[in-house]
Amino acid sequence: MPSTILVTGGAGFIGSNFILQRIEEGTGQVVNLDKLTYAGNLRNVDSISSDRRYEFVHGDIGDRELVRRLLERCQPSAIVHFAAETHVDRSIRGPDDFIRTNVDGTFALLEETRAYWSGLSDDARNHFRFLHVSTDEVYGSLGPNDPPFSETTPYAPNSPYSASKAASDHLVRAYHHTYGLPTFTTNCSNNYGRFQFPEKLIPLMILNAREGKPLPVYGDGKNVRDWLFVEDHCAAISKVLDQGRPGETYNIGGWNEKRNLEVIETICDIVDEVAPRDGAPRKELITFVKDRPGHDRRYAMDARKIERELGWRPKETFESGIRKTVRWYLENEDWIRDVTSGAYRQWIAAHYSV
Ligand code: NAD
Ligand code: DAU
Repeated sequence: MPSTILVTGGAGFIGSNFILQRIEEGTGQVVNLDKLTYAGNLRNVDSISSDRRYEFVHGDIGDRELVRRLLERCQPSAIVHFAAETHVDRSIRGPDDFIRTNVDGTFALLEETRAYWSGLSDDARNHFRFLHVSTDEVYGSLGPNDPPFSETTPYAPNSPYSASKAASDHLVRAYHHTYGLPTFTTNCSNNYGRFQFPEKLIPLMILNAREGKPLPVYGDGKNVRDWLFVEDHCAAISKVLDQGRPGETYNIGGWNEKRNLEVIETICDIVDEVAPRDGAPRKELITFVKDRPGHDRRYAMDARKIERELGWRPKETFESGIRKTVRWYLENEDWIRDVTSGAYRQWIAAHYSV
């Protein structure tokens, strides 16, 4: 019988890319449990919606009864846990949902997983895996000359978002250490690519540049992020899932540090080239706005462990990945119309008005 993996948050940006990649590679059945918050969009997985190897279940990871029944029914050999509240700016304006889903929700999922896993046969228990998808933000902020974050860098989260992710990482660690649950935690840098909700830097800048709207840069625009193409992240998760050592954590990054201004200027140049318009170059739309409170200055990942132990390295360069991404957003107007609904417009109006 083909094995089944349960993916949480598979209607979001990275989760949907991961499911599409797994189905394309023919690695078995996938069940997608997603609450469909503002960030979840079933259009992302439209192309496989009637595939017999795929099933969607609408629900909350914090609903223990639902999770219990789902685990009993689909008997997964692995869980890949993406579901989370993920936008730092939203966590600053309203942290409640971040604690509810990222901390309480992960705890509920772990408890139900532990109960399910304990009841498996010896063989199934040994082969079972729980992979928790986390972020580089748990390590805090680097100075300009600091070495990149490694798996042993102490945690120092600075935003309600990163604090909630750090809490969930600690719970996962404890479930391995105390109960022996075969877990992995992957901590990844900033992703970009198709299906990312346009409240995050790259898709927001592409859409605003296309429409000739201001490009809001927080602070001085010199904050540094380490960018990774989403399909490379998904391939890294599959590597860990299939070949990783239970109980371990793996840092994943793009070896691609860039200042925000550099990223935005690159986007402007590509949009000018692909969708030329009369008038000034898009770079002139760049507008400096009030900084994000507590804005982390620099993230960078040391991804040597996953390369050394599992042979993973990113395939896409930033130059080729950002080109593909800009083109995708410019060519998928229906998707954009769908996600830029009333709720999206309210967020943009409230967040950028002061
Ligand atoms: P996203 O915001 O695009 O998607 C999150 C998904 O989770 C949505 O489909 C949403 O409906 C679902 N969800 C939210 N709360 C839920 C709940 N209580 N129950 C079930 N489903 C729920 O997020 P993303 O950018 O795809 O990130 C996925 C994971 O990867 C997150 O855990 C995030 O912390 C981590 N991560 C993201 C990045 C990045 O650059 N985007 C980098 C490193 C790590
Ligand atoms: O590092 C991994 C993290 O990357 C993930 O864990 C998060 O889920 C994901 O949202 C992302 O967090 P960031 O805060 O780094 O991403 P965001 O796209 O919100 O911002 C990237 C940088 O761009 C950051 O320095 C803030 C800046 N920015 C962002 C927006 C939305 C701007 O200057 N202007 C903007 O309008």
